[in-house]
Amino acid sequence: MKKMTDIHVLGNNKALFSVVKTAIGDDFQLKHVVPGDLKKETVHLIFILKTERESPLDLAQYILSEHPNASVVFINDSPNFELLRDLTRVGVTDFFVLPDEEWLFSERIKALVETKLITKEKAATTEGFKRGGGKVFTFYSGKGGTGKSLISSTFAQTLKVESTAKVLFIDLNMQYGGAETFLGIDSERSMIDLIPVIEELNEHHIRNVSETMEPSGLDVLVSPRDAEMAEKIDDTFIMRLIRASKRSYDFIIIDAPSNLDVKTFTALEESDRIYYLMILETISIRVLKGVETLLKQLGIHPEEQLELIVNLKGKDNELSKKDIERFVTYPIAYEIRRDLKGVQAHMNKGEPLRKEPQEKKLTPVAKDIQKWVRSMLK
Ligand SMILES: Nc1ncnc2c1ncn2[C@@H]1O[C@H](COP(=O)(O)OP(=O)(O)OP(=O)(O)O)[C@@H](O)[C@H]1O
Ligand SMILES: [Mg+2]
Repeated sequence: MKKMTDIHVLGNNKALFSVVKTAIGDDFQLKHVVPGDLKKETVHLIFILKTERESPLDLAQYILSEHPNASVVFINDSPNFELLRDLTRVGVTDFFVLPDEEWLFSERIKALVETKLITKEKAATTEGFKRGGGKVFTFYSGKGGTGKSLISSTFAQTLKVESTAKVLFIDLNMQYGGAETFLGIDSERSMIDLIPVIEELNEHHIRNVSETMEPSGLDVLVSPRDAEMAEKIDDTFIMRLIRASKRSYDFIIIDAPSNLDVKTFTALEESDRIYYLMILETISIRVLKGVETLLKQLGIHPEEQLELIVNLKGKDNELSKKDIERFVTYPIAYEIRRDLKGVQAHMNKGEPLRKEPQEKKLTPVAKDIQKWVRSMLK
């Protein structure tokens, strides 16, 4: 058999590492690494060792999203069927309990390496494909009142009714006036109810606490309305919530507040895409520049994720799209018209702009978002 380069091993568990080393024999070179060490081209096979500190699901999911063509094998010291099931769902190739399954382990790994070598070329062509869960889109703007809540909630509803995807909407505003007002939701439950189970958060918990919109089927998770309650939510909670949501939903749409605190920052950091809401006026550009500087200081390099959404487009805008493009390098993903009357009429009735697949009369805002979502789904 052709010898494969290395097997990368994640997870600081000395006892398990030495069991693995014995089981695997001299055929392979084991390399203990941390996730940041892994370079895309060289990673084919990764072992994740069980540790007390890290969540195996989060780690596996992270690795698979960064290295979609790698095979990930999880190694535990005792059987755990629930974990096995969840890991399989995330895209882990195999799961072993060592030393109990030592007899099986080395043969299976050899077989796995052989198939990897054969499929290596094929895999190169599917580089763009990512396993391991949902996409996170966060709607953000450093400026208040730019339409984050209205546009994100309508976007989420539209995505839900225009596709078969499982969609979760998370309102992170921690006060009244967030997207739940636009969706007409008055929920007794909120993400606060997830605090006791946050360490082991699963699909079931999230569904239980979220509100399902009828008839669209969009799941909505609202934030607490009470400032004292809201203080119990920290950045680790936000990170765990988003990562757990990715395991059970195809898309997670987040309405983030303008205030760039550590929670908002975590949401942005966990996002695959940031839709930054802009209005066609000078102040919007200035605020964006400020946000950009701050994000860079904090370690987010927004050019990779950030796209602009021009909102409230109308005849009397101070600037044009061209002006924005002259001053800002981010791509403009979409433009949404201003329609005060249509939006107002729905708000007064406590009705969302978009509810169901076949809707007779869509307002201009709902129509623009429909076109945008459809172009994305193509
Ligand atoms: N394209 C649009 N046409 C008409 N009205 C709009 C449009 N976009 C937003 N609005 C209105 O502007 C107001 C502010 O919108 P929204 O609350 O969504 O902004 P926000 O960015 O979430 O604000 P905040 O920073 O307070 O959370 C709302 O009354 C909303 O209905
Ligand atoms: Mg808002």
